[in-house]
Amino acid sequence: MKTRVTEIFGIKYPIVQGGLAYLAYAELAAAVSNAGGLGQITAATLRTPERLRSEIQKIRTLTDKPFGVNFAISRHDGRYEELLEVAIEEKVPAISITGGNPKPVFERLKGENIKTLVLVSGARQAQKAEELGADAVMAVGQEGGGHLGREDLGTMVLIPRVVDSVSIPVLASGGIGDGRGLLAAFALGAEGIEMGTRFIATQECVHANEKYKQAILEANETDTVVIKRTLGAPARALKSDFAMDIIDREHKGATYEDIKDLISGKANCNYIYDGNESEGFGWAGQVVGLINDVPSVQELFNDMISTANKGLNRMENIIVERTHS
Ligand SMILES: Cc1cc2nc3c(=O)[nH]c(=O)nc-3n(C[C@H](O)[C@H](O)[C@H](O)COP(=O)(O)O)c2cc1C
Repeated sequence: MKTRVTEIFGIKYPIVQGGLAYLAYAELAAAVSNAGGLGQITAATLRTPERLRSEIQKIRTLTDKPFGVNFAISRHDGRYEELLEVAIEEKVPAISITGGNPKPVFERLKGENIKTLVLVSGARQAQKAEELGADAVMAVGQEGGGHLGREDLGTMVLIPRVVDSVSIPVLASGGIGDGRGLLAAFALGAEGIEMGTRFIATQECVHANEKYKQAILEANETDTVVIKRTLGAPARALKSDFAMDIIDREHKGATYEDIKDLISGKANCNYIYDGNESEGFGWAGQVVGLINDVPSVQELFNDMISTANKGLNRMENIIVERTHS
């Protein structure tokens, strides 16, 4: 596969593993990079500069391929700057930025040889990222797991809109879990994809509790809900009594203070690490409806590439009249 994304990031396949709070550590990121994609370590949940540095050093023992570090810049108690310094000192190949105004990050990265990806949920945000100097944007539709845009735009409309709005490459994200989604992203004008939920159900996502993985396998496409919508920070999680209780409280007018313990990182970890469903929740996207196995990342990539090729043949048979330029 050859797109501007494979060229800019020096990868074989234009497939990026999204930042995954509390789950995206060296093991998973290295597996994705070794399979030919761009794996990422999530800085925010590592919290301290020392831990981020040691995770970056660890991934370098597991792969010699490019990888990225994800920065959720608004959800990090203002401490992302220290972590960013570590990523710069360690000369990481790429960083992705989400959650807030990326301008200060771009100012700090000037002159550094680090490729940048910005997560966006709309055309205007994508243009802003391009103006600031992003190498590519990842546009996330409302099907996706974790935090979403507030506009409820589905991937199918969002991607061509963003593609038409910028000249830098666009990666499609939200609802992609197999080779059909990969091919569809190309059809919409994207030059690559980002996946989050699909990577949780892989062998190398070693930090996810078996209950969480099993719930992803068992869930169908209607088994996710959006929490925190009334707080202006919508985010998609597996449907559960715990998640429904949060939504119920929101509908009754709960403030951030009222429910902060229920939506905290601790509540997230209670479920995704300890499998305690009465004390926490797990992020996941609608693509859970398409996930039925827990392959290795390499097996997942092999299957996606072969399915995309089959889909391409199928499309060639559908579009019988073609112009060759
Ligand atoms: C468990 C989980 C945790 C996430 N944590 C982060 C994060 O820390 N930073 C980030 O940029 N995106 C995060 N996301 C969003 C993903 O990077 C990605 O944009 C999203 O999962 C794409 O949609 P999909 O789940 O349908 O593939 C998370 C998603 C999930 C499912």
